[in-house]
Amino acid sequence: MSRPARALLDGGALKLNFQQARLHAKSSRVMAVVKANGYGHGMAWVAHTLGLSADAFGVSSVEEGMQLREAGVSQPVCLLEGFFSADELPLLSRERLEPVIHHDGQVKALAASKGLKLTVWLKVDTGMHRLGFNPAAAPDVLKQLRAAPAVANVRLMSHFARAEFPKDPATQKQIDDFLDFGRNHRVEMSLANSAGILSWPTSHLDWVRPGIMLYGGSPVAGRDAASIGLKPVMTLETALIAVQPRKKGDPIGYGGDWQCPEDMPVGVAAIGYGDGYPRHAPPGTPVLVNGRRVPTVGRVSMDMITLDLRSQANARVGDPVVLWGRGLPLEEVAESAGTISYELLCHVTERIPRIAV
Ligand SMILES: Cc1ncc(COP(=O)(O)O)c(C=O)c1O
Repeated sequence: MSRPARALLDGGALKLNFQQARLHAKSSRVMAVVKANGYGHGMAWVAHTLGLSADAFGVSSVEEGMQLREAGVSQPVCLLEGFFSADELPLLSRERLEPVIHHDGQVKALAASKGLKLTVWLKVDTGMHRLGFNPAAAPDVLKQLRAAPAVANVRLMSHFARAEFPKDPATQKQIDDFLDFGRNHRVEMSLANSAGILSWPTSHLDWVRPGIMLYGGSPVAGRDAASIGLKPVMTLETALIAVQPRKKGDPIGYGGDWQCPEDMPVGVAAIGYGDGYPRHAPPGTPVLVNGRRVPTVGRVSMDMITLDLRSQANARVGDPVVLWGRGLPLEEVAESAGTISYELLCHVTERIPRIAV
């Protein structure tokens, strides 16, 4: 019997969530965002499970793009951070990896390259203030890119800063500014991430770029994923490896800063920050034991967490423990741990076996 910590991956849920993106943005093509190892699910597994239903994939780097090619993925792959050095350009052209262009150095490198045939995405900064050209500068950059011999096709991209808040005026302004820019240039455009797909229909345009919603995370502030028709793809689970009767006042775990308020059973589950469970999850973070909620107690260790089993007097070694996923929304755990669902998923470490179910 091996250590019971594992991530169960529900391919049916992934496909269903992808269909939700399609249903919301019926006239758009869909670039499935699979960077950071498919948000922790395994990039190749995600790409293979979606198969040819995705029109393209989005990753961060040429290395991630090549992982998809080595896994046999044939669709176009967009490099959302662009290329980092001109040396990468021949490989990008050969492998149909489509870089985002967000600074002058990249434009110059493209202008100086010959014999290549690249599709590139010109990044326009409409308010995120992270990557991209100011809308005032972008028309000239678009002209330069179209004139570059290495560039076969230019598309436009921008990115939302806070689309998770429906009706936010800053998001509406990003949409208006992007549409204004696009109106004057015949070019394919992409703006919507998951939140844009679900809450901002005028942002759908030619391409949408869902990430978190594919994995069953809610991209809408204050709404749980199930209410938007999304299903969790990853269920992180383990089992109880000890159940100990403790006395009132017993300190539990490192630092001893949590003490038993009365005589009580304390469970130990085999999962910890070495697996990606957040170390900063405070006592009271919910987990499921035998399908029922119990709170954590004490600090998260590298390989274990401790649980208040007062509500489960019959819990035994071997009983199942769910950290998030089916029956326990990711967002709830993220909120308790002071983080976001994205980070929880991306942090699941290599030692957790991913098991497709
Ligand atoms: C440029 C870009 N597009 C799309 C996405 C997908 O965003 P989300 O996971 O919120 O749908 C990301 C993710 O960070 C991104 O950086």
